[in-house]
This record gives sequence, structure tokens and C-alpha cells, in this order.
Amino acid sequence: MSFPLDKFKELRTPFYYYDTDLLEQTLQAIKAAMLPGSHLHYAVKACANPAVLQLIAKSGAGCDCVSGGEIKACLRAGFKADSIVFAGVGKSDWEIELALQEGIFCFNVESKPELEVIDQLAAAKGRTARVALRINPNVGAHTHANITTGLAENKFGIDMQDMEDVIALAKRLKNVELIGLHFHIGSQILEMDDFEALSKRINELQERLDGIGVSLKHINVGGGLGIDYTDPDKHPIPEFSTYFNTFYKHLSLRAGQQLHFELGRSVVGQCGSLITKVLYVKENAIKKFCIVDAGMTDLIRPALYDAYHRIDNLTSDEAEETYDIVGPICESSDVFVKGYKMPKARRGDLLALRSAGAYGEIMASQYNCRPLPSGYTKKDLLDD
Ligand code: LLP
Repeated sequence: MSFPLDKFKELRTPFYYYDTDLLEQTLQAIKAAMLPGSHLHYAVKACANPAVLQLIAKSGAGCDCVSGGEIKACLRAGFKADSIVFAGVGKSDWEIELALQEGIFCFNVESKPELEVIDQLAAAKGRTARVALRINPNVGAHTHANITTGLAENKFGIDMQDMEDVIALAKRLKNVELIGLHFHIGSQILEMDDFEALSKRINELQERLDGIGVSLKHINVGGGLGIDYTDPDKHPIPEFSTYFNTFYKHLSLRAGQQLHFELGRSVVGQCGSLITKVLYVKENAIKKFCIVDAGMTDLIRPALYDAYHRIDNLTSDEAEETYDIVGPICESSDVFVKGYKMPKARRGDLLALRSAGAYGEIMASQYNCRPLPSGYTKKDLLDD
């Protein structure tokens, strides 16, 4: 990836930079790999930068929201209300009311009490809420424990053994219309076997549906496709065909059934970098610290999940040295990487923390009274 360094030098660091050309290519690659009858709902939780959202909306994708705030951000960015799916274990009344008011496509319902509340709130508005049941498929995903969601021990979804029971409840309720099933097994998944296991589990559940004479038009398999954090330049665009084909091959859809995907990370991950400036290089008896002006408040993934982000020194081509690259926050976990080899760093150098488009800017906080990082797109910088 190339960076507009002259422009970067005029900006206050740290900031997020989104390569909108790469984002557009990624969106095209997704479209090219999807068969008719498949729908993408971009998982907004990955990145809600307005310019990024607008581009994704323009590509014709729908969106996957988990809060009223996300629904509002999506409508502002130009997503159509009837392309919104709304998930989450704890939807507040105002969020449900907003979603009903706007006429979203579907609520992904995670419990019986939630289904009852949606029915009541829909009745009060004289509406019918379209719902899909989020079933916990109890399928493990080979990823970090904090980002697996499809196991019985996780808080998400409805247990498989309760599916028929909840379907019976949905049928009794007058203001909900059950239109589908929803699943999600976790994030940053690179082993297609996990998606194959999910497909097979869905097939079993669909046989149970056949057994009780229920046919549902929509199957939503969630998101979760991972990206290459180690070598983003080698794999700037994830292998979408391999991912989609896993479902096309292993999932037995019924006639006319529509398939929905909620990809987040794989859509925006590689197009974003966190740009930061080297403040000081400090040496002690055992190591060199490269202290930068971005911290865990700007990109929390390394501190929270032990995540690795490749770091490029954009302004040095001197011989490599080994550093712990750390931020300015008053926490020992404010470390981006330890023992990292990078061209010699000097005060004022600009570094890019790569593959930070997903769960980067959106998870930033103001801890230590720090301002939130800004976000710029390639378009913004090259058009001025
Ligand atoms: N659908 C549902 C129901 C989800 O819970 C998620 C992510 C997605 C879709 C999108 O998954 P993706 O395609 O992005 O993997 N903050 C963590 C990731 C949390 C993911 C939460 N759910 C991280 O930085 O790795």
C-alpha cells in the first residue's frame, strides 16, 4: 500500500487513514464472488467512519447493526432501512422502537423475553416486526477466545434445543413475523472447516424445521471471515470466493431461500491504517522502546486480544533495529508489539499500524482525556 506522506506531514497524529481505492476493490471482489440470492449486510461494528459507511452504502450493500446509534449512523450514510438487520442480546426499548419506526428488514432475536418485548412494542405501534431467531449453533471457531461467539458457554443466541419452542412462541405472537434463522460463530476465522461445520449444523436444523412443517425464507450465517494481519500487502483482499463457496457447497438451501452474510473485518480491515508519530526512542540496559503518540486508546486490539498489527516505518530506510513499540498511556498493557524489527526510528518518524480498518477507530476511547483520533480517506487527502 502506498501512503500520501506529504499530506500526512500536515496532519496532527495519530489518525486513521482509509485507502478508499482498496475498499472499493474489496467491495467489487465481494460482489463478484457472491451468487444471486445472496445478500451482504456489512457489520457496522467493525468501522462506522462516515466516509467508509457511505462508500459501502453506495456499493448497494445492506448493513448489520447492533445498536440504535448504528442504525442512525447507517441511515445517515445512505443505507436503506429495509436492508438493516439488527442483532444484539440487549436491545433497549428505544432501539427496538427506532427500528420499528424506520421499518428495518429484520430483528435478529436472541431470547424469548426479547421476542415478547418486540411483539409488545410492535403492537403499540400497530406494526409487524420481521424477526429471525439467532440460534447458537455450538460450533467452535479457531480464533481468540474473546471473539468466539457460537459456543453454548457464550451469551449469544438461543440454544439449539429450544428452537422449536421459540418458533411456537413466535407463531403465537401477533405482531412478529418469523422469516429466518441467524447464526454467527466468531471473528477472524481463517479455517474454512469452521464455516463448513456451521453449514452442516444449519442443514441439521433445517431438517428439524421440515419435520415441524416450518419453512423460512432467510438464512443468515453471520460474519467472521479473517484477514492476513502478518502480510497485508500480500493479501490486501481476502479470499472471498473460497469463503462464499464453502457455504454454497455445504449448505442445503431450500427452494427460494435467500442467504445473508454479515461480514465486517474482511470488508474494511485491510484498507485502514493508524498513522502515528515517533515521540522518543528510549534505551535501557535490556531494550529499546520506541514511544509513539498513538496508544491503546486509539487501537486497543493488541492490549485486549494480544492482536498483532504489522507496523511500517514510513519515513526511514535505515538498517533495522529491535524495539518494543509503545504508546503514551499510563497502563503497562499500552504496548503495540514487543521485540519488533523495523528500520531505525527517530523522533518525528511516521509509522503505520496496518490492518487497522476494522475494530480500530470505532473502539477508540478518551481514557487519559485524550481526543479521539481523526479519520481521513485517501479521497479526502488527494482531493484537497
Ligand atoms: N455478525 C455478528 C452477529 C457479530 O457478532 C459480528 C462480530 C459480525 C457479524 C462481524 O464479524 P466479522 O466479519 O467482523 O468477523 N473487536 C473484535 C471483534 C469482535 C467481533 C464481534 N462480532 C476484534 O477486534 O477482533
